[in-house]
Amino acid sequence: MKAPLSRYEETDFDLDEQQRQFAEDVAYGLSQPEKRLPCKYIYDDVGSELFSRIMELPEYYPTQCEMEIFDTHKSDLAKIFGHTGFNIVELGAGDGQKTRVLIDELLDRTCDFTYVPLDISEAAVNGISDRFADDFPKLSINGIVSDYFEGLRWLADQNHCRNIVLFLGSTIGNFTPQGRSVFLKNLRRSINTGDLVLIGFDMVKEIDTIVRAYNDSQGVTAAFNQNILRRINSELDADFDLDNFIYYSTWDAVSRAIRSYQVSCCRQEVYVGKIGQTFEFEPWEAVHTESSHKFNEEQIATLADRNGFAIEACYTDADQYYTDCLWRAK
Ligand SMILES: C[S@@+](CC[C@H](N)C(=O)[O-])C[C@H]1O[C@@H](n2cnc3c(N)ncnc32)[C@H](O)[C@@H]1O
Repeated sequence: MKAPLSRYEETDFDLDEQQRQFAEDVAYGLSQPEKRLPCKYIYDDVGSELFSRIMELPEYYPTQCEMEIFDTHKSDLAKIFGHTGFNIVELGAGDGQKTRVLIDELLDRTCDFTYVPLDISEAAVNGISDRFADDFPKLSINGIVSDYFEGLRWLADQNHCRNIVLFLGSTIGNFTPQGRSVFLKNLRRSINTGDLVLIGFDMVKEIDTIVRAYNDSQGVTAAFNQNILRRINSELDADFDLDNFIYYSTWDAVSRAIRSYQVSCCRQEVYVGKIGQTFEFEPWEAVHTESSHKFNEEQIATLADRNGFAIEACYTDADQYYTDCLWRAK
């Protein structure tokens, strides 16, 4: 029998604020008629490491495309960014593989700026801060471990200087359409008129190419996605049997998104100790874990306009698979 959500609320477990939020989100998501879990919880130290491996996969074209764009247009971007007195704030910085191309270019031009990598994954922020400190001894770095929205509150307090915000890796595609709009409106409110935002968009294209990118032959994407269950086991004392769930991802032609799931292979019950609740899974019942929306030029223009930005420039790779769009806050 499904336990009501209120049982969690009445249970007095010794959880810190982050664990409490995680527990609440898991309790809520697994109690829905269509089970779901927020994709941000895929990213702990293991998840971040697996995502770095995904970026090395031959099927995962977004990284190669964005790298090509930065290699080709780093000089144009650096000219637009200007020479002194700004922060480069990177939301969801990950391992900064592509950002280092830009940082290198800016430092070559002796630009004076502070790089602020912000990520929900502590391992990602520590990793990027240490590597960039070693590789760019002159770079001023201020790493922040936080959720985007907490990060945007921090950003709003930095209005005494120019801020250039990077949001790369097509992470914008992980929001629902409504969440995307809330995020962009919040971002716009957090910066000054005239500030710049560089956003990476994965474009709609031939479907097989997209589907392959999320179904690699080495199973790295599957392990990455399943990390959310492993994390619930280790942090919330759950007993998910990982062998009883499979990764499944599919193209939703209507919303133009890859939708990823953990699918239960049998009828089973999972107990989550720190919630004090048992969740039932039917055979082949799916838990939605991530969506990756793809975009076209018209959508990007509408998103910019509706959320208070003017398009300054758009850069694409040779195959036109991917676009990095530079927006200026209106
Ligand atoms: C798709 S990866 C992209 C990483 C990097 N921007 C790149 O292009 O390689 C998404 C990144 O956002 C971070 N992330 C996911 N959800 C987040 C959230 N709610 N708040 C802050 N960071 C988040 C993840 O830890 C991860 O590093």
